[in-house]
Amino acid sequence: MKTKSLFIVLAAFVLGSVIMSFAVPQDQKKGGPWNVPAEYKSKKMPAGADATQGKALWSLHCKSCHGGAGLGDGPKAANLKTFPGNFKSAEFQGQADGVIYYQSFVGREEMPNYEKKIPDDEDRWNLVAFIRTLK
Ligand code: HEC
Repeated sequence: MKTKSLFIVLAAFVLGSVIMSFAVPQDQKKGGPWNVPAEYKSKKMPAGADATQGKALWSLHCKSCHGGAGLGDGPKAANLKTFPGNFKSAEFQGQADGVIYYQSFVGREEMPNYEKKIPDDEDRWNLVAFIRTLK
């Protein structure tokens, strides 16, 4: 008798979790268009920008939310209200270097500001160069 009721409790729990995993809404909103100041828009990636160096910075600072391939599926992404973006998409890659620079280092809301954590302009461009390899 005891075993049976334990089984029922356990079964109810398992069933409950299965139902919950479907019921929890995937309500991550998409970020709207970015308002990027002209002085950033016109920034150009320097010729020597090194994507390999940028990858190390990506792993350290960005991967946790954006994911290894920039699909917006890092381990922290599920806790965000805003979708971090799909860096493989033509829409994302179609943006100017300076726009990606602004998004990456100035940020907004849930996208953190990295101006202090990544102060060196060469490092920043290496990171943008790595982001360009994600397409
Ligand atoms: C705490 C999680 C988190 C971390 C860490 C993070 N980001 Fe983001 N990022 C976001 C979110 C959320 C958005 C979407 C923000 C919005 O649209 O308002 C975003 C947006 C962006 C965008 C614009 C995406 C688009 O589709 O327009 C770029 C570029 C970007 N991040 C680069 C970076 C870089 C580079 C790093 C590391 C230096 C980084 N992010 C670290 C959460 C994060």
